[in-house]
Amino acid sequence: MALVDFFTECPDIRYIMYGGKGGLGKTTFSAATAYYLAKKGFKVLIFSVDPQASLSDIFARKIFGQGEVEIMPNLYACEVDADKRIKAYGDEIRKKIMDMYGFETMPEEIENYMKAASAEPAMEESAIFDAVVDIVTKGGYDYYIYDLVPLGHALYYLSMTSVYDAWINKISALRYEMGKYDKVVATVQSKKETAEDKILEELLYIKERINASSRILTDPKLTAFFFVLTPEEMIILDTAKAAELFAKFNVPIRGFIVNRVIPKKLASENIPQYLRNRIQMQEGLLARIDSQFGSKVMGCVPELDRDVRGLEMIEKMAKEMFGKR
Ligand SMILES: Nc1ncnc2c1ncn2[C@@H]1O[C@H](COP(=O)(O)OP(=O)(O)OP(=O)(O)O)[C@@H](O)[C@H]1O
Ligand SMILES: [Mg+2]
Repeated sequence: MALVDFFTECPDIRYIMYGGKGGLGKTTFSAATAYYLAKKGFKVLIFSVDPQASLSDIFARKIFGQGEVEIMPNLYACEVDADKRIKAYGDEIRKKIMDMYGFETMPEEIENYMKAASAEPAMEESAIFDAVVDIVTKGGYDYYIYDLVPLGHALYYLSMTSVYDAWINKISALRYEMGKYDKVVATVQSKKETAEDKILEELLYIKERINASSRILTDPKLTAFFFVLTPEEMIILDTAKAAELFAKFNVPIRGFIVNRVIPKKLASENIPQYLRNRIQMQEGLLARIDSQFGSKVMGCVPELDRDVRGLEMIEKMAKEMFGKR
């Protein structure tokens, strides 16, 4: 299926992701897709948790940490400030513990434990994923386009269950640590039972949220994941490997889109030899992509004359991706 037909043939898709190695065009394709769908009259939210603020870059607007920013009618962009989110997450847990146990200040051992847990990548990923869950479960948009960070990281978002499990184990251990205080607390106030119930409740709530969003992000009826690649030897190899791995994590891979293809028709013009060589080399690699990914190749996007930044260039890219329809 060609990318142009995808959204009309699969009207139930709500969540869209472009994945691939660094710098191949994920943000560019995400923005162009958001633009295209918004122009068609759908309400679209493009969002990211990338600390590099790529959406602010491509839309040439300050979006980072600003909530949902209207870019044009129907098109909204949101860049989650992950650091802020992580800090807020830690503070929230601290507050819960202090409230539950009626502490005025955090006991040092627990504070140390919290610090160790905060340094865990699982805590960071949990906080970020929590932000993503908030966005995708809040509703209000026809399409959600998740501008992913490069390959390896993208896996986290799609296999969050295991990362969350690690974090929940940490919290469970914290709960055990807290148990030592129960005796003291119990004599002062009889909150022991409720506190334990609350922690358990919290864990179950987190787990339910993860499960719900994992279900969404791996549901092929709702979510479409596209790989972005370029006609380069190493990229083709890496993409094939990643696709195999992602399939194991139930990532609903819908297709592959080739970016930065130098238009073949240039070869008939008076062009420098090096460009002619590149075109020829690309032809061989495009044939390889075809035989490797076959009918899953949904489109080839040409190298444009400049970087894609600002709505005018985004529109140009959208036309290359989806035609003039
Ligand atoms: N077809 C194209 N023609 C010209 N420039 C392009 C094309 N595709 C992407 N670019 C440019 O390449 C650069 C990288 O693209 P982009 O930021 O979309 O990649 P990315 O995959 O999101 O990168 P990262 O992995 O860092 O998030 C940008 O400057 C973008 O404007
Ligand atoms: Mg990007």
